[in-house]
Amino acid sequence: MKNIYSNIFPFNKKILNKTIKVLDKGNVAALPTETVYGLAGNAYLRDSIRRIYKLKKRPEINPLIIHYHNINQIVGDVIINNSFKKLYLALCPGPITFILKRKIKSKIHPSACAKLKTVAIRFPKHKVVRSILKKIRYPLAMPSANISSNVSPVCAADVVDEFKNKISLIVDGGQSKIGIESTVVDLTNKPRILRPGIIDIKKIEKILKLKIKKDNKNFRIKSPGMLKKHYSPGIPVLINQTKSDNKSAFIYLGDRHKKNKLFFSLSKNSNLKQAASNLYKVLRAIKKKSFKKIQICKIPHIGPGIAINDRIKRAAN
Ligand code: TXA
Ligand code: MG
Repeated sequence: MKNIYSNIFPFNKKILNKTIKVLDKGNVAALPTETVYGLAGNAYLRDSIRRIYKLKKRPEINPLIIHYHNINQIVGDVIINNSFKKLYLALCPGPITFILKRKIKSKIHPSACAKLKTVAIRFPKHKVVRSILKKIRYPLAMPSANISSNVSPVCAADVVDEFKNKISLIVDGGQSKIGIESTVVDLTNKPRILRPGIIDIKKIEKILKLKIKKDNKNFRIKSPGMLKKHYSPGIPVLINQTKSDNKSAFIYLGDRHKKNKLFFSLSKNSNLKQAASNLYKVLRAIKKKSFKKIQICKIPHIGPGIAINDRIKRAAN
C-alpha cells in the first residue's frame, strides 16, 4: 500500500543518506525503534536538542536518552562500570536504557541531559536506526516521537498523528514490535529500576546476581519527567475496572467480548507481552473513535504486566 503522507518515507539506501544529511545539519527526523518511534537529533549539537524540546513541548528539566551503535562509542561520554558491562553483554542491543555518570569531557550537549551529571544511554535493536547509528560520528538524542505527556507512537502514521507536517522526515520501519518504552535502570549507585519495561526486574537481577530494592513511596524521583501525568490518550482513564458502564471503551485481556464494539482486547490469549505491545495502538485507536472515557480491567502485576500497570496508572493520573 502506498502511504498517503508526504513526510513518511520507506527505508532504503537513498533515505538512509538523506536522513544522515538531515541529522548532520542539526535537523531532526523521526525514526523507528523496536520499542516506540523516536524523534532523533545530533546529541552533540545545541540546535538539534533545542528543536527536539520545542517540537515535543517538553519541559527542559526532563532529560533525553542518548542512543549509540555500540559500546566503543560511549567511552568519551560516560563512565562505564561492572554492572553496565554485564547488562550490556547480556541484553544489548535491546530495549533497555542505562543511567551512568557523565564524563567531564563528554561531548553530549548539556541541555540534552537537563544539565544533570548523569546520562541515559541506550543501544536500540531496530535495524533501521542501527544502520543510521553505524554511519554517523555522533550519538542520537531521541525521546519518543510524541507531544509531551501523550501516548508514544508505535508506527509512522502515529508520528503524523502527533506532529502533522511539523516533521518533514519520518522513516517508516513498520510497527514497533515491543510497543512500550525501554526499561530504564539507574546504575550510578545500587541498581534501581526507574521505568519498568519488557526487560523486567527479575531478568536484571539474574544477570547482576543481586536483589534490586523495590522503590517505596518516599523514594525521591530521579527521572524528573516521570513525576507528572504521562502516556495520556487525552480522555479520562479508569483502571482496575470489573464491569463495563455500557458507554465507555473497555480494555481487557482475553476474547470473551468478540462482537461488542465497546470492548478492546489487548491479547486474545491473555499474553502479557503481546498485551504490552498492543497497549498504545489500542489507546490511540479508541481516542480516534471519539469515546469519552476508557475503562481498563485489572492487569496481573507480573512480568510485562508491571510495565503495563506503570503506564496505565500514569495515563489514569
Ligand atoms: O524506548 C525508549 O526508551 C524510547 C525510544 C525512542 O528509544 N525513548 C524514550 O525516551 O522513551 P523518552 O524521552 O520518552 O523517555 C526518557 C526517560 C524519561 O522518563 C527521562 O526522565 C529518563 O528517561 N531519563 C533520561 N535521562 C535521565 C537521567 N540522566 N536520569 C534519570 N532519568 C533519565
Ligand atoms: Mg516519552
